[in-house]
Amino acid sequence: MNKYKIDGGTPIVGNIQCLGAKNFATKAMVAALLTEEPTQLTNFPDIGDVHITGQMLESIGVKLIYDTENTALHINPKDISTYQVSMPQSGSNRIPILMIGALLNRFGAAEVPLLAGCNIGNRKIDFHIQALELFGAEISESETSFIAKCKGRLKGCHITLPYPSVGATETCLFLSVKAEGTTVIHNSAIEPEIQELITMLRSMGAIIFTTPERKIIVQGVPTLTGTRMEILGDRIDAASWAVLACASDGDIAVKGIRPDTLNNFLSYYQQVGGGIEFLKPDVIRFFRRNPLTPAVIETDVYPGFSTDWQQPFAILLTQAKGVSVIHETVYEKRFGYLKALDKLGAETQLTTSCLGNTFCRYKDHNYEHSAIIKGVTPLISNNETIDVPDLRAGLAYVIAAAIAKGTTYINGIQNIERGYGDLIQRCSDMSLNIKKI
Ligand code: EPU
Repeated sequence: MNKYKIDGGTPIVGNIQCLGAKNFATKAMVAALLTEEPTQLTNFPDIGDVHITGQMLESIGVKLIYDTENTALHINPKDISTYQVSMPQSGSNRIPILMIGALLNRFGAAEVPLLAGCNIGNRKIDFHIQALELFGAEISESETSFIAKCKGRLKGCHITLPYPSVGATETCLFLSVKAEGTTVIHNSAIEPEIQELITMLRSMGAIIFTTPERKIIVQGVPTLTGTRMEILGDRIDAASWAVLACASDGDIAVKGIRPDTLNNFLSYYQQVGGGIEFLKPDVIRFFRRNPLTPAVIETDVYPGFSTDWQQPFAILLTQAKGVSVIHETVYEKRFGYLKALDKLGAETQLTTSCLGNTFCRYKDHNYEHSAIIKGVTPLISNNETIDVPDLRAGLAYVIAAAIAKGTTYINGIQNIERGYGDLIQRCSDMSLNIKKI
């Protein structure tokens, strides 16, 4: 197995191109199954997770052409011949459950692999199941797959999500756009990737209204058309490079990111001492403006501070003078990565309490979902090896290794490449000293 070798301890300067967002690209691939016409996705990221999704699409007869030169994907779903999706050799991800809606609309049946993805909590799918049943589908589970069936067209319905889940909102959208009648989704997710998915579905002919109070109203239509859609820049990728610039006291221009999608991140970043400059509408320069100060952060659904930003931000807080707190309210087990940082000299502590301003769903459970981070702790690595526990923690480790004096080895890099692609090539225009060995 390959690993990364990083020689750190110097300010990182340079430029990096932000990827198309993983968490929209894979959903856009599923949306393309709702029509028999071809769809073209541009700014399409070359990352492990889209290849896993692509293999699932190909297993049912979808024709895919990856145009890597133009970062485009051409999807032709005309010849889909089966509703039984095979598990790719490289494993599953979170996408199969989303394919059920599209396949039910086409075949009245779907069989998809069980889910995998990062181990950051229980990641239940009860809201998806509830939605499938409300739309008139029956669902069962075998040892290897979910099996769903419906008689005739899916039926529009009213559904209230117990929590504004991204995946469950997507399932509801995929079920409703071609269902009979009107669907109202209450308490839906409104993340930028969801808003892009709605835009894409509208471009295919879907009739979808959104309201200010997390309500989505969908009037089902019998057919949808193919489309062309650009994948928006990945706000998690961009935030990570922003942290690298500030934590290392360097200067990095991140290209291909819409500033509005970074939203509150930009405020927390500046609050703790980071500097930003908009060089072009989609290019932001990140650097350290002031000595770093601590922060109290609570992760939340959009427009709150994204749970996917907390891992890189935790690295930044190790370099801030004072005591910082991060309260993770979206996933119950998302701090497993912190312990390894102590090997590099970080001083962190986990607690089951809800630290911060509010009590969350995990109050009175035994989950270590709040972190205390003391700074400034200079990071030092004497040839330490750290193992990547999950995707976002993986890039956080790369940042930690980049600011740590000495050499760090990072194992389990397939977890990183699933979401960030080929880092060696991507980082070639920055002073980061990273090798794959
Ligand atoms: N939840 C349930 N029941 C459900 C669905 C969700 O209890 O049926 C809970 C989850 O256990 C979690 C919370 O609701 O505690 C939020 O889950 P959500 O459904 O919003 O997450 P997801 O759709 O599984 C996506 C991203 C995650 C990102 C979250 C939150 C993809 C493939 N994944 O996950 O991204 O953290 O939304 O924004 O889109 C990542 O990219 O590394 C990643 C984990």
